[in-house]
Amino acid sequence: MEKSSRIPGLHKMTIEERIEAVKAFADLSSDEAALLGRCSVLDLNTADRMIENVIGTFEIPLGVVPNMVVNSREVLVPLAVEESSVIAALANAAKMVRSGGGFFTSSSAPIMIAQIQTVDIADPFAAKVKILERREEIILKANEQDPILVKLGGGCRDIEVRVVDTVKGPMVITHILVDTRDAMGANAVNTMAEALAPSIEEWTGGKVFLRILSNLADRRIARARCLVKKDAISPGPEVIDGIINAWAFADADPYRAATNNKGIMNGISSLVLATGNDYRAIEAGAHAYAARTGKYRALAQWEKDSDGNLVGSLELPLAMGLVGGATAIHPMAKLIVKVLGVKTATELAEITAAVGLGQNLSALRALSSEGIQKGHMTLHAKNIAVMVGAEGDEIELVAKKLAEEGKVRVDRAEEILKQLRNP
Ligand code: MEV
Repeated sequence: MEKSSRIPGLHKMTIEERIEAVKAFADLSSDEAALLGRCSVLDLNTADRMIENVIGTFEIPLGVVPNMVVNSREVLVPLAVEESSVIAALANAAKMVRSGGGFFTSSSAPIMIAQIQTVDIADPFAAKVKILERREEIILKANEQDPILVKLGGGCRDIEVRVVDTVKGPMVITHILVDTRDAMGANAVNTMAEALAPSIEEWTGGKVFLRILSNLADRRIARARCLVKKDAISPGPEVIDGIINAWAFADADPYRAATNNKGIMNGISSLVLATGNDYRAIEAGAHAYAARTGKYRALAQWEKDSDGNLVGSLELPLAMGLVGGATAIHPMAKLIVKVLGVKTATELAEITAAVGLGQNLSALRALSSEGIQKGHMTLHAKNIAVMVGAEGDEIELVAKKLAEEGKVRVDRAEEILKQLRNP
């Protein structure tokens, strides 16, 4: 009989019972099932309080990036990432950026937007004005939902109302703009939006459906800029024009922009993940922001100053928090925040923007000079060596030979390992 993925009461089972259920479903051996229960820093009970139906934790490598200077402060940046070269690339870029004094960052206030969707309104433009007339009342009611946030200096600051044309007719979309301080703020703004819905229905005679934050957090912007002295760039100043050309290509062509921005997110998402923040929210916000002009473009900009030095800048929404989410629960995230030495969510977002800019620099520099495969392949070769069974010193020896030959392939790795073991 075919197995069923319907496992009644899965959510009520103990973690051990869930592991047993998965073991039976997937025909796991006892050794395999034991991997599920094995944890390192994040213990199963904490994990069980974070999400539903926990059966284990998932580890990815955590590396540390040296050389970063942000606003004249030396910073060590831990990144959680499965891809080789990300850490090395950023370390390399950060070293070059030191020639110009490091990264300089700034940010907007931490304002999140929540949207309230109202439909079935015959006179949407009048409804818009009716809602705007109640600005003070709305702000007051929103803030009643979160007195603690207000006490901490945050809270609802303003409202905006838009009439959006859709295939289902015009909709009146109310935005509440909320300063969420050191929280990412999803829960705070969603609660406020839900509380306001009945009043908006009453004032407009319409029907409210969605009440949810927008991940296009374009009022919560982090910025970073850097300068690389023309004699500090490798292999030489001639690569500067290549970098600017690479940026122009990305800015003009969405096919290239997607890859360019993926490179920026290599660093950003890895830091967002390492600090227990919501990387899906950040990814969605970044890509929507890249497309805000109606065309998907490069997130960062590269140009030359009047002395011919390379200058880069990046602005993007970074809705990151320090309180109220996994950051405050996950022991490793807490430790990483300590290593970063940040005290506010804004500082964290600014370092994250610097990481994104540095990552873009290293990718564009490599792409417009030697290409990225050289660096990639050295690390990839080690993975291939491990994959074919190399152990201890063998890993380095097999990887070195693969990289030297420029043939980083499993079949060649097998041959090299065989020769090594039976010379
Ligand atoms: C690889 O993970 C990231 C790059 O493709 C980024 C880029 O092309 O700019 C190297």
